Amino acid sequence: ISNIEEIAIIAHQNGALLSVDNTFASPYNQRPIELGADFVVESLTKYINGHGDAMGGAIIGKKEYLDIIRAQAQVNLGGTISPFNAWLIMRGAVTLPLRMQRHNDNALKIARWLEKQPGVSFIAYPGLESHKGHEIAEKQMINGFGGVLSFGLKADHDAHNRFVQNLNIITSAVSLGHDESLIVFLGENDERQYLYPEEFHNGFFRFSVGIEDADDLIEDLRQAFEKTGLA
Ligand SMILES: Cc1ncc(COP(=O)(O)O)c(C=O)c1O
Repeated sequence: ISNIEEIAIIAHQNGALLSVDNTFASPYNQRPIELGADFVVESLTKYINGHGDAMGGAIIGKKEYLDIIRAQAQVNLGGTISPFNAWLIMRGAVTLPLRMQRHNDNALKIARWLEKQPGVSFIAYPGLESHKGHEIAEKQMINGFGGVLSFGLKADHDAHNRFVQNLNIITSAVSLGHDESLIVFLGENDERQYLYPEEFHNGFFRFSVGIEDADDLIEDLRQAFEKTGLA
């Protein structure tokens, strides 16, 4: 969790512009321009479309800058969305607030449940009081803390893999912000481990909690803990 307001002040004092990737929070939960950022980048592929069936991206900011981006980057890089993807995203975006509230509620309920499981080595979710960035998140996230959480197991690499295989509703796949719950295991041998705090280094799951019934998801996790011998 980054303190957007403070980073914007430091950036502007030093003649820099601040761009925030708001993909994990979504504009329903966090509005970086109101906190001082100059640009917001959103992966439309994630919460804004919300159904995992189209790819797109957006840059939001002052027209004077966006005109430059459109004239230079778009022409040189060719980032032009297909009409069908644009249509899907516009249709999906209508229900963003409804979906997002459900993602927020489900993720918080599941995070609180995971915190109590004996087989869990750590859980990271900004909505939990135990999260280092909780106070900042509470100040800058207006409606909730999003649908993505991370956790690890008191177990080795193979048990993490078996846990994922034992899930029935939650799908093992990369990406996030879909209606369906997705989980991905990043093992202790993953080359990006150095980006994460110490407790992540034994391997961890990134869990994008979907909009299914929260109790169905908890039941799926419960039976996976049991089958993996971690209940
Ligand atoms: C934080 C964040 N920003 C941007 C992107 C890029 O999204 P896209 O898949 O729409 O190119 C991703 C993709 O995983 C992401 O996680």
